[in-house]
Parts: sequence; C-alpha cells; structure tokens
Amino acid sequence: MKPLELTDDLKTGIDTIDDQHRALLMWANAVSNDSVLADQDKLKAALDNLDDYVKFHFREEEEAMKTHGYNRLKKHKAQHDRLMGEVSELYGRLYREGASKALMVEVQDMFAGWYTLHIKEWDKPFAAFLKSRNVSAF
Ligand SMILES: [Fe+2]
Repeated sequence: MKPLELTDDLKTGIDTIDDQHRALLMWANAVSNDSVLADQDKLKAALDNLDDYVKFHFREEEEAMKTHGYNRLKKHKAQHDRLMGEVSELYGRLYREGASKALMVEVQDMFAGWYTLHIKEWDKPFAAFLKSRNVSAF
C-alpha cells in the first residue's frame, strides 16, 4: 500500500503542527506494514502507538487553542472526538477480524480521507489564526 505522506497542500506552516502531522502519518504507515499486519502482537503494538500519538497530537492542538484564545476550540475539539471514535472503531475491527485486504483498504481510505479533510478544513484555519498573532510554533 502506498505510504501516506504530508504533501505540500497539507502543510499548515506552523512547524509544531506539521511535525506532529508527519509523525502521525509515520505511525499510521507503521500499521500498514506487511510484517506488522501478519503478526497480531506487532499489529496490536502498532495500533496502540498510533492511538497514543493521535491522542497526544489532538491534546497538544487543543491546549494551544486554549492558550491562544481560539474561538473555534469547541467545534474543533468535537471534530477530534468524532475522528478518534471512527479511528478506534475501524482499528478495533482490524484487530478483531484480522487484516484482510478489503478491511485494510477501508482503513486506509478512511484515514487518508479524514486527515486530508481535517487538515484543510480545521487545522489550516487554526494555523492562520496563530500566524495572525505572530505565533509560529507551540
Ligand atoms: Fe485538528
């Protein structure tokens, strides 16, 4: 499967956010690795790492929104909560049912769909807000 990557159109220009998004995709790619998919223990470990990183990243963004008084925090957080629910539901299936090709395609499509949409519609406006306050990292 083609690895997910942070293409130019997905960069927000805030280093902290872009670095964390790159790390997030690295953890997501680690789940699609063939040797990981063939081994339930490795798969469980990779899913746990991804889950931890998603939580860490969302928390960091939300903290920065609080610190800088971003008025769309509540709505943005609701998106994060919804996405975390979807991710853990699909990854839960992946763990229970095993890694069939069809399920992997579904998982990848879901993940690729939400991170591109989320970055464009939610993270970029937040990044623009930070830039308007001369904040370049957090
Ligand atoms: Fe976000």
